[in-house]
Parts: sequence; structure tokens; C-alpha cells
Amino acid sequence: MKDLNANNQAKQLAGIAAAREVQSGWTVGLGTGSTAAFAIQELGRLVREQQLRIECVATSFQARMLALDCGLSIVPTDAVSRLNISIDGADEIDPELNLIKGGGAAHTREKIVHAMSDRFIVVADPSKIVSRLGAKFAVPLEVLPDAIGLVTRILSDMQIGKMQLRTGSGKDGPTITDNGNVVLDVGLNPAPSECAALEDRLNQIPGVVENGIFARYRPRPGDCIIGDPEAPGGVRRL
Ligand code: A5P
Repeated sequence: MKDLNANNQAKQLAGIAAAREVQSGWTVGLGTGSTAAFAIQELGRLVREQQLRIECVATSFQARMLALDCGLSIVPTDAVSRLNISIDGADEIDPELNLIKGGGAAHTREKIVHAMSDRFIVVADPSKIVSRLGAKFAVPLEVLPDAIGLVTRILSDMQIGKMQLRTGSGKDGPTITDNGNVVLDVGLNPAPSECAALEDRLNQIPGVVENGIFARYRPRPGDCIIGDPEAPGGVRRL
């Protein structure tokens, strides 16, 4: 399980810097996780204290509840097809800004929201930077429960990595996503040049709803904000 309190200062610096890129009148995608939470809190502060006027789309139940608590206005995801910007965390970031996401099992809605966004900003602490995806995190696959046997068999036939059905906490049995599906974590270690093809290949397996490689929808250079208390302004940009 992720340690949500690790590197909190760096996460906060990144989240605040990202929130300050948002302009009045924009529609904003809100990411999930402990780093995106700092951006959501800062957006709430800007709405309350600086007259920022925005509408938001949430990538998860967690993001929605926090945003409402911070006084942000939430519109349903299916009511929009384009966003000005979205801000989200990542589990790993490689040198070409390919990502692993889904440590919080929200990667399907996150990919939908970031695909809608004109600009996708990633916020992270320095521990998320790796030379190759898979260094610390497995790649999560959101899978329809009825398809778990088939997906597991196909992945075994592909001989591409160890698999583990993610187990929930606070309940017996598997983690169930906000969409009612299960999560299969697969140990994969793609080079940066292999990420997009692997993302496509995993999504071609029947029953896989979405996987946590973000190569097709990754941030542009300069849009990865890494909190770093030692850096000028408290952040570095990749
Ligand atoms: C949610 O499913 C994830 O994609 C998160 O965005 C990712 O796990 C980063 O979370 P933290 O900011 O809590 O590390």
C-alpha cells in the first residue's frame, strides 16, 4: 500500500504551483491521490480568497468529495468533452514523461479526464522519477470481474510479468474500483520507447477496461511539476 504521508512537503509545493496555473473561466480536471489533493485544496483557497471562478470534473469519488469540501463546483464528467487543464499525480515518471498511474485504482477515469484536457499537468515528489517504468510500481489493469480468468490466462500466455489481484483494505477480498471492477497489478518494465505500444497491447485484451500506462496521454515537456524544497520557487519542471 502507498504511504500517503511520504514527502508531503514536496507534494504540497508541486500541488500549489500547479493550481496557480489555473485561470478564471476554465474547466479543470481534478486528479486523485495525495499530491493532487494539495492542488485541489489550493484551488479551493483561490476560489474563496482570490475570486477564481472555475468548474471542475473529478477523476474519483475521493477527488469529488475533497473538491466539494473545499467549495469547488463539480460538473459531471459526461457533461463535458473538453477541459482547459487537468492536474494529477503519478506513481512513476520516466525520462520521456511516460507515467504509471493507478496506485489509487482511479486510472480509468483519470485517463478519460486527461484525454479531454488541452493541458495535463503532473504533480509529484522526486521519488516518482525513474529511469524506466516498473522500477517500483506494477502496472495496474482495471478488469471487468467476469473477465478476470481470461485476462489472467492471456497475460500468462504473453509471459510479460507477475500478476497480483489487488486486495482491498477495510474489507475482505479485492479492491473494487469506483466503476465496480477489480484491479490486476502486473509487473512490467518497459523502456520509454516501448510504453505506447505496451499501453495499446494491454488494452486490446478483452475485459481490460484500461491500464495504468500513460504514454498516449502524458504531459508535455515542462508540464511535470516536481516539488523540491531546495529548488528556486520550490519546484522543478520536467
Ligand atoms: C490514482 O489512481 C493514482 O493515479 C494517483 O494519481 C497516483 O497513485 C499518485 O498518487 P499520490 O500522489 O498519492 O502518490
